[in-house]
Amino acid sequence: MSDRGSIVVRARHVWKSYDQGRVSVLQDASLEVRAGEVVALWGSSGSGKSTLLHLLGGLDTPDRGELSVCGLDPTLESNRLELRRRHLGFVFQLHNLIPDLTVEENIRIPALALGRPVAETAARVRDLATRVGLQHRLSHRIQDLSGGERQRTAICRALLNAPAVLLADEPTGSLDEATGDSVFALLRSLAQHDRITIILATHERRFAEACDRIVRVRDGRLLANL
Ligand SMILES: Nc1ncnc2c1ncn2[C@@H]1O[C@H](COP(=O)(O)OP(=O)(O)OP(=O)(O)O)[C@@H](O)[C@H]1O
Ligand SMILES: [Mg+2]
Repeated sequence: MSDRGSIVVRARHVWKSYDQGRVSVLQDASLEVRAGEVVALWGSSGSGKSTLLHLLGGLDTPDRGELSVCGLDPTLESNRLELRRRHLGFVFQLHNLIPDLTVEENIRIPALALGRPVAETAARVRDLATRVGLQHRLSHRIQDLSGGERQRTAICRALLNAPAVLLADEPTGSLDEATGDSVFALLRSLAQHDRITIILATHERRFAEACDRIVRVRDGRLLANL
């Protein structure tokens, strides 16, 4: 576990554009997040929230600027596997689960890269599924689950390797209000219990206000502490 209070995620003067610079997305974005913080990236559609999370998660590279997650630079290919294996969990805007596989099989996916003992992984999957209320759904296929159950499965998958940092891209975006509230409450309680640092992208004010801190994203610029 990281020291509470130390900076675990840092972006410094990050710029990102697409289409050979024709679409400018992030402009001089800087951010520091401390261990154990739950930070909302709050902004309207197209403001650059997913782009920033993708850069932090090593899923894309910036044009300019520095990034650091748990002391590792996610722009370096040589760090990406290590980050995904041990430090970072990602909950995608669309859950990105494999519909033909069961809940249990989907949650286990990150363990494949670690070569962990099967019995140890099975116990961890059961523990996580129980914590999110999915223990009775482990052998069900994703395609047979509700939206909230799918998103809870995606959260378990992201937490399987006990990451220090969870990047959550609108984890409640596809859910109705009540289900969204329960998934958000679940993330908060997991963060508190396991002292996970969470950066959560949302366009919903009520979720942003329930985080420890709001970083407003507007036209690719970050406006902190609003
Ligand atoms: N691969 C890409 N090629 C071209 N433009 C892109 C690409 N990815 C993102 N963009 C553009 O960058 C801008 C920011 O996109 P991004 O997905 O980061 O926004 P967002 O804040 O996550 O929006 P939403 O709330 O709708 O998810 C958008 O205008 C989008 O069209
Ligand atoms: Mg997005």
